[in-house]
Amino acid sequence: MTLTTVEPGLDLVEAIQKLKQETDTILLAHYYQEDEIQDIADFIGDSLDLARRAQAVTHKRILFAGVHFMAETAKILNPDKAVIVPDMKAGCSLADSCPPDQFALFKAKHPDHLVVSYINCSAAIKAMSDIICTSSNAVDIVNSFPPEQKLIFAPDRYLGAWVQKKTGRDLVLWNGTCIVHETFSHKNLISLKIKHPNAAVVAHPECPEPILNEAHFVGSTKKLLMYVAESPAPEVIVVTEPGIIHQMRKLAPEKTFIPALTDDETCSCNTCPYMRLNTMEKIYQALKTGQPQIHLDEPTRLNAEKSLLAMLERS
Ligand code: 13P
Ligand code: SF4
Repeated sequence: MTLTTVEPGLDLVEAIQKLKQETDTILLAHYYQEDEIQDIADFIGDSLDLARRAQAVTHKRILFAGVHFMAETAKILNPDKAVIVPDMKAGCSLADSCPPDQFALFKAKHPDHLVVSYINCSAAIKAMSDIICTSSNAVDIVNSFPPEQKLIFAPDRYLGAWVQKKTGRDLVLWNGTCIVHETFSHKNLISLKIKHPNAAVVAHPECPEPILNEAHFVGSTKKLLMYVAESPAPEVIVVTEPGIIHQMRKLAPEKTFIPALTDDETCSCNTCPYMRLNTMEKIYQALKTGQPQIHLDEPTRLNAEKSLLAMLERS
């Protein structure tokens, strides 16, 4: 496919706004996007709010500035709308860590278990699940099953371990991880805490347990934002993708935000390489060409929709 090039000197913000209107397209974006993408989006949110917003879309087209599983979720809920992404290569290590053929074998080994899957998984995994959860509602979704009901939790073993701790349930965990959240350095975090003794530490539950044990608050991106807005702490150490700091600064401009780092302080390994594939230029091109688009086979979509709707009805 030949992509249109961006005309030199073009005001991208103006051009994107105009194209959105002309083509009746809503731009949904996640908090881990570049600041300028967040600013031009019609809606920004965590995975749960993005799924809810996608469910209510009345526009003809959805352009999703996030990662593939998020756009797929929008397509599952909107089979008759065009769901466009800026870059088809914007995947997710968690989703990739759960190949459907291997997961089918794993599931077959636990026939008396129901499957709760984190939304960071492919449509094929959603189709094999009984219910979906996000980091925002994972504890409530697991608690909504009677204590005697055996459960598989996939694909994030760290989120699963955190849910296990919060609910006291014994979950069978799939061994997947997020390459961003598993890479934060415990040693570096301790140094930051010593340097900033009055700082609140907020972390995403995709981090390993030793990191979460250092946090004053653990939650989804939206819950981290809510905590930051209410916390009296003058400084905040942020242990998640630093894209979220853009909204944190807007909500609490008087506070100082300190991004947690990985062991290699010379690399920006705390940014999500998939999320950051999206650019303003690619958004402009996607709007103009209506490509690339998410396509799903109908049996998979229908089964995935069942597990997604099960979540949306319970949350
Ligand atoms: P949230 O649902 O908390 O925004 O998480 C999305 C994600 O991909 C975290 O890595
Ligand atoms: Fe996936 Fe991790 Fe990137 Fe979130 S931060 S999209 S879980 S790779």
